[in-house]
Amino acid sequence: MTASSASHYDVIIIGAGAAGLMCAATAGYRGRRVLVIDHANKPGKKILMSGGGRCNFTNLNSTPANFLSDNPHYCISALKRYTPQDFLELVDRHGIDHEEKAPGQLFCKDSAKDILNMLLTECEWAGAEIRLKTAVTAVSETDAGYRLKTGSGPLTCEALVIATGGLSIPTMGATGFGYEIARQFGLEVLPTRAGLVPFTLQPELKTQLAPLAGISCPVDAECNRQHFREPMLVTHRGLSGPAMLQISSYWYPGDDISINLLPTQQIEDDLMGLRKQKPRTTVAQYLAEYLPKRFASAFNELHGWTGPLQEYKNADIEQVANTLGDWTIKPAGTEGYRTAEVTLGGIDTRQLSSKTMAVLDRPNLYFIGEVVDVTGHLGGHNFQWAWASGVAAGNVA
Ligand code: FDA
Repeated sequence: MTASSASHYDVIIIGAGAAGLMCAATAGYRGRRVLVIDHANKPGKKILMSGGGRCNFTNLNSTPANFLSDNPHYCISALKRYTPQDFLELVDRHGIDHEEKAPGQLFCKDSAKDILNMLLTECEWAGAEIRLKTAVTAVSETDAGYRLKTGSGPLTCEALVIATGGLSIPTMGATGFGYEIARQFGLEVLPTRAGLVPFTLQPELKTQLAPLAGISCPVDAECNRQHFREPMLVTHRGLSGPAMLQISSYWYPGDDISINLLPTQQIEDDLMGLRKQKPRTTVAQYLAEYLPKRFASAFNELHGWTGPLQEYKNADIEQVANTLGDWTIKPAGTEGYRTAEVTLGGIDTRQLSSKTMAVLDRPNLYFIGEVVDVTGHLGGHNFQWAWASGVAAGNVA
């Protein structure tokens, strides 16, 4: 096939995920001829698996402070121009039932399929075409835009949008393709690592905690001056639950994590008071008031706290209080991209326009969604970034 016989589109978007589909509908409604291509056999696979199958599609309290980036101001403009309320209006227009599970966190009442179907319907109404099972093998620049070599023949376009996501969950189609394209066009890609991911433990602690698998308790987890007060879950492999997932995005190999197991209590004052008023109380009994019983007794056993409080000296009580309020662990690592919800790092946003998501010296090449160095906290923020960055590019591409 010759160059002239390649199918031509105004906009080609690589990646039929959250950001790509949102961008496609937005550009399509502007009258642009849009094609979305994806190598997967289905669009939006991560949308379907998100939020335990019910997609935590936005967070009403989302602010730029909920995002990590080497260039923290970059996300502000797009997030301001397309807000959680804007996405909620779209969801409501499609009559999708939703509920607020935790403050600000909106989930589908029935299924994440509702969000994917909504995006596909929007793409259809906007006239955007979606081509699946299509691998892109090469991208080159032309006088009028870009030329793509794909498994189903050559394509050309005026504007090219890269929406290929991050590296997490390779079995769902994640690839490093977006980073390769960025490097090909001279962009810097910041080091990537798994985020919102469970921790693995050193063998000794893993064995000690193994009997507690399945137990969850509210904690305050702290690492590198960030802390999250949310539930922690003990698993067969290590520690998970919202508190651990959130703090994992701030953790680097070798770092300690400090866990306050009783964040609502003044532990030392409580124990001193109990020793005076109810001297026969044990630490295990105190713990059982605030922690799941099985967790309380196993944690107590782990530290060998026996006997009534009347036998504890001030220094002993101080030590118990420190251990409970500042239980310090050094994870062996994380479960990595295999189970991570997101990829931290990625395309350095200093080379992109915060208004359009286009490369600064290459206005027809755009990067949106998770492939760029903007990563949200747990709780619907990552989808909000996908929607907002998709709309920002779709409005101009
Ligand atoms: P996304 O990964 O959605 O899409 C990228 C697309 O590009 C995929 O369809 C992929 O097949 C395609 N692609 C990749 N390489 C390609 C190539 N070489 N050629 C062609 N196509 C290619 N967030 C949130 O806010 N609320 C939530 O409830 C959850 N829950 C959740 C659960 C789980 C298990 C995971 C793994 C993640 C979440 N997330 C989440 C995060 C959220 O899913 C994620 O941030 C967005 O899907 C990112 O959207 P993107 O469109 O950037 O990438």
